[in-house]
Amino acid sequence: MRVLSYHLPLVAERGEGARVWDVDGKEYLDLNMAYGPLLFGHCPQRVIDSVVKQISTSGSQLGFPTEISARVASKIKQLYPGMELMRFANSGTESCAAAVRLARAYTGKNVLVMFEGHYHGWSDAVFNKYHAPLDALPEKGYGPIIPGTLGLAGAPNDVVVVRWNDIDALEACFREYGDRIAACIMEPVMGNSGVIPPADGYLQGVREMTLNHDSLLIFDEVITGFRVAAGGAQSRYMVQPDITVISKALGSGYPVGAFGASHEMMSMITEQKLFHGGVFSGNAVVMAAAEAAMDTILESRETMYPYMEGLATKLADGLREIFGRLKIPHLVQNVGPLLGLFLTDGKIEKVNEYRDVRKHCQFDKYIHFQHHMQNSGVYFHPNQFEPMFLSTAHTADDIDMALERFADAAAKTCCK
Ligand SMILES: Cc1ncc(COP(=O)(O)O)c(C=O)c1O
Repeated sequence: MRVLSYHLPLVAERGEGARVWDVDGKEYLDLNMAYGPLLFGHCPQRVIDSVVKQISTSGSQLGFPTEISARVASKIKQLYPGMELMRFANSGTESCAAAVRLARAYTGKNVLVMFEGHYHGWSDAVFNKYHAPLDALPEKGYGPIIPGTLGLAGAPNDVVVVRWNDIDALEACFREYGDRIAACIMEPVMGNSGVIPPADGYLQGVREMTLNHDSLLIFDEVITGFRVAAGGAQSRYMVQPDITVISKALGSGYPVGAFGASHEMMSMITEQKLFHGGVFSGNAVVMAAAEAAMDTILESRETMYPYMEGLATKLADGLREIFGRLKIPHLVQNVGPLLGLFLTDGKIEKVNEYRDVRKHCQFDKYIHFQHHMQNSGVYFHPNQFEPMFLSTAHTADDIDMALERFADAAAKTCCK
């Protein structure tokens, strides 16, 4: 993912705040933020202090239950009250795989509904070819999973993939599989195919449909958690899933994930009917990082989210002005500090689902544009499926500087 043929090489040496430096000493404004975890930028002092204190006075991993993980859990629960009980893991992949297992075990049903363009990690449970070519996608709006890699030996099993933001397609899927569907798992704001917000009422519609069919709703908030709001997309859109998965910003740069649900559902695990484990899960280093992150969010959420959203709006407006002035077809979509720029093949009002991105977006043009930006000292991912991430470490001056360079790159690479 970090060294593909379309990447300009960048071997990072260090990061600080909103910036990274490569091994040649070149400085970049970082709009990637390690794919999302760095909510407070690189090397946030409070996180460093918490980790250093933990490892120097109490140990990195104790191999027993610790008060620190209980404290972190209770702080998460203040923001995600539906996670009445939770389990820590080491990544988004692990947490999503465990959440799916929990849904199947709890409901006693097998079929898992996923959505086109959504990514839930690379486990055998869910690794769909989430960026499949258009002609591989089913006309009727839903169909069997397309395995994401060789070596899956027949997995993922019993998975149906549906067009997202299309309640009719989901309804048709429920008509066909209804009483067999254990759960629908989705990114409540799509962040793995650019940034695509849920259509008005869509999340509520899915919630209702799952309830009507005794199926569960899993929100994979690995990207959106602590990012589109302190309480994630579920608080921003006021839709309560049955199972929540969080990761990325939870650890602010340290590897942690978590999944959680009601007491009743999680008792499948506490009563040992369902297995979930992990030697490193909930280790004290990442818990110390997560505690500092949770404390900062709980203290500062009234100001930090409007601040980041303000920066994202400034960046989004600036990009629209530049591309508009140069008459370059484009679309900018953002939800909070998560921002997607699409270079399109013509004027488009809205990108509403994965197929729109595939159909209308010019990937080669975006790569060419990104290379110019990277050379000019502003980094974001060269694949326009990947969002840009802002953090509390970015400033209005950073956005002004980035916009100047965006204007230059757009004029030089997109105006032919
Ligand atoms: C929405 C979502 N879910 C799950 C994952 C998998 O997380 P990880 O890479 O930590 O295993 C990712 C990773 O980018 C993600 O974006």
